[in-house]
Amino acid sequence: MGKDVIIACDFSSADSVFAFLDKFRNEERKPFVKIGMELFYAEGPSIVREIKKRGHKIFLDLKLHDIPNTVKKAMSVLSSLDVDMTNLHAAGTVEMMKAAVEGLTKADGSRPLLIAVTQLTSTSEERMQKELLINASINDTIVKYAENAKSAGLDGVVCSPLESGMVKNACGKAFLTVTPGVRFADGDVGDQVRVTTPKRARETGSDYIVVGRPITQAEDPVKAYRRCCEEFIG
Ligand code: C5P
Repeated sequence: MGKDVIIACDFSSADSVFAFLDKFRNEERKPFVKIGMELFYAEGPSIVREIKKRGHKIFLDLKLHDIPNTVKKAMSVLSSLDVDMTNLHAAGTVEMMKAAVEGLTKADGSRPLLIAVTQLTSTSEERMQKELLINASINDTIVKYAENAKSAGLDGVVCSPLESGMVKNACGKAFLTVTPGVRFADGDVGDQVRVTTPKRARETGSDYIVVGRPITQAEDPVKAYRRCCEEFIG
């Protein structure tokens, strides 16, 4: 898989996500879509099968974090849904991440891409140090968690486009960075803080950008999606 734009389909029901995806019916490039907790918990695994049936690639963003055996079993269920990418929290330790890889791997040896969340972008360095008692800088923590993910056999991490370079320096160019926090230069920032444009995300080396509201809330979502692809993929 090469560089791609992933649309964060943060909708609360199947009807609303289908109404949105219907707009892309005649598009040559079927968007890669991200299904998060809200939609998955509301609609269950059938929503994954339905969207897959429409020809979309799927990033199932459920951020698993539990004991290794539980994560391994849950991952094997997600793998049978035939998603293209899924994720977990690197904080669950290398042992948990290794168990996740085992659970995801099918009998033929294939598996979806597995991406780790390092520190959520909503966690500030101050809170991480004071509440979680992690006595390091946030950047050192992100790099260490990315290295752990790599050593467990994962394919990459979710991070800010501004952190892609740092992660690639530590883990190599082939280690994937999947980056939210993307806005058009002339668009609304909303509640995101550290944002970059699709073009800048391409320059910083992101492999996938995750874009929600700049596409889902646009007056013309197809036009906004095309613009994102042009800026990011070329
Ligand atoms: O609408 P917006 O473009 O801000 O959506 C970004 C998507 O990426 C949302 O689904 C959000 O939950 C997700 N995300 C994020 N920052 C992270 C991890 C995930 O914005 N660190």
